Amino acid sequence: MTTVVPNADVPTSHVDPFGPDTLGNPLPFQRELRDAGPVVYLDRYDVFAFGRYQEVHAALTDWQTFQSAAGVGLSNFRYEKPWRPPSLLLEADPPHHDAPRAVLSKVLGPRALTKLRAAWMDDARALVDDVLASGHEFDAVTALAEAFPLRVFPDAVGIPDNGRENLLPYGDHLFNAFGPSNSLVAKGAPRVAELSGWVNAHCARDVLSDSGFGAQIWAAADRGDITYEQAPLVVRSMLSAGVDTTVNGLASVLYALASHRAQWNRLRADPVALCRSAFDEAVRWESPVQTFFRTATRDIEVGGTLIPDGSKIVLFLGSANRDPRRWENPDEFDLRRDPSGHVGYGMGIHQCVGQHVARLESEALLSALVARVESIDVAGPVTRHPNNTLRSWESIPVRVTPK
Ligand code: HEM
Repeated sequence: MTTVVPNADVPTSHVDPFGPDTLGNPLPFQRELRDAGPVVYLDRYDVFAFGRYQEVHAALTDWQTFQSAAGVGLSNFRYEKPWRPPSLLLEADPPHHDAPRAVLSKVLGPRALTKLRAAWMDDARALVDDVLASGHEFDAVTALAEAFPLRVFPDAVGIPDNGRENLLPYGDHLFNAFGPSNSLVAKGAPRVAELSGWVNAHCARDVLSDSGFGAQIWAAADRGDITYEQAPLVVRSMLSAGVDTTVNGLASVLYALASHRAQWNRLRADPVALCRSAFDEAVRWESPVQTFFRTATRDIEVGGTLIPDGSKIVLFLGSANRDPRRWENPDEFDLRRDPSGHVGYGMGIHQCVGQHVARLESEALLSALVARVESIDVAGPVTRHPNNTLRSWESIPVRVTPK
């Protein structure tokens, strides 16, 4: 796949990483990318790509050189108007990033979540009981991976029941829009105004309940920690980044366990120790968020390649998480592994601020499943849902044997 660009020593790929074939199975392309070198030029999009762990990790932890404020998608905010007002966290750098980040870190931090723990465990048990009562073969994506976050997360934020299903197509479009303007973006376009209107309306103080994450963000504005103009955009960050990511993370761990009987048995033998790390291993193995972009703030040399100021760089998180230079047998889903250090949640100042929420959702769901179910197996062809950024699922038919 690689050729050498005249006058430059950088390997070049003509492959479209956002084309249907590569999105359907990105692993062969990612292997070629890593093998081609630390930096590969993608001529179709005029961007540099990092596929190896070392360079991806280094770029994520050097925000001064690899900025987010010019957009973490392909579009360069230096020259193009963003399709929506940029995120105050994801698409910002210090000093602007600091206050919204500090507020959200506290609202979504481990200490704050201890208050939700018992209720989410009960909710997960109730959901698993309902699913088992209606049959032992079901679609793990809709029945569990979508149903559980849509049940607990909007409640925790404080948004009403009505319309919460809008969060999934909104997130789907948002994550498509980080990629090129291809048919996936066009598919979402007709509903953008309606869905954005719904999401923005649900960031308003008077729509949110008095005690959820949303109300706590508005209370931070009362304290002066952020401004009243910033508060709705910080709420929007949760509604944008908090659902599709987790749904696909949960679907991934369910698929991983249903397709690896030995790992399921390992989990059953020691659920207290493994329910949390199983999710992290699935986030490494599948990397629900496959890519994010950065923009070079100066000329910089990486692995012998000069990357000019203003260039877009795409970081292949999913590829870094399967780099054999970093991981032993990276393609194996293995609960004996210590997956810490994976970049599935990013790294550095932008590392996922909602990861404790995702982990708690997974812990609750897996604990409930392990308590009720003897075995879980894939029961039919699994299908993917193509997305420019997410490694997303359409359907995972499973068969379970209840205890
Ligand atoms: C398995 C689930 C999740 C995955 C795989 C994931 C992945 C990521 C990644 C890779 C980043 C880093 C972006 C970058 O460096 O440019 C990130 C940031 C972020 N995530 Fe998550 N995320 C998940 C769940 C959540 C949840 C549940 C929430 C909200 C409740 C959330 C909110 C955010 C926000 C607001 C940021 C931006 C943080 C910043 O820039 O300071 N995420 N996430």
